[in-house]
Amino acid sequence: MQGKFITIEGTEGVGKTTNIAFIQDWLSDKNIGFLSTREPGGTPLAEEIRSLLLMPRTETVCDTTELLLMFAGRAQHLDKVVIPALDAGQWVVCDRFTDATYAYQGFGRGMDKTLIAHLEQLVQKELRPDLTLILDIPVEIGLHRASKRSTPDRFEQEQVSFFDRVREGYLCRAAENLDRYAVIDASKTLDEVQAAIHSALEDFYLQSQRKID
Ligand code: TMP
Repeated sequence: MQGKFITIEGTEGVGKTTNIAFIQDWLSDKNIGFLSTREPGGTPLAEEIRSLLLMPRTETVCDTTELLLMFAGRAQHLDKVVIPALDAGQWVVCDRFTDATYAYQGFGRGMDKTLIAHLEQLVQKELRPDLTLILDIPVEIGLHRASKRSTPDRFEQEQVSFFDRVREGYLCRAAENLDRYAVIDASKTLDEVQAAIHSALEDFYLQSQRKID
């Protein structure tokens, strides 16, 4: 039986790392075999593409280059890691996926969503996440949290207005498809955030069990 594909999204500083660890613990408690990965990245080649994408540089990266590099890494990651794991019945937990492309390249950079949809179809065929958790937080709070980490990467150097558009992009996508997305208010306390994640995971798990029965 195919595994389930769970993706975690959000703007900078929403607490993805801590909450992905929480999701991993939930999967272990349920005795579900899983693989945890990330985008951009997830294979040696895709990690090289990640470095190319995130490294601050003096040469401006044109929007089309950025978009194609995202999907180039994704094609490799899907072929080598995600699809084999799902086919083997493992669940896959992925730190960001194509919703990030719609949010960052589509809403943030203003790229054509139809073009993104074409590339999505080319690279993923019918594959879409089964559940997407969007950790949502006011941009200023997230950027403040993220600023305490290491030197800002190329995306973290963007203006607040860029991240406002990215956040709006995530929320728009969630509003269009309530079935697949759970929007989690990540400005609450960690306990509250994790209670909300737990409840989204349990609902999803129950639904997927019902489909089997
Ligand atoms: P992070 O995984 O450490 O959060 O950083 C990855 C950065 O890449 C983040 O700023 C979002 C950005 N990104 C895109 O712009 N488009 C994408 O499709 C993905 C997966 C990430």
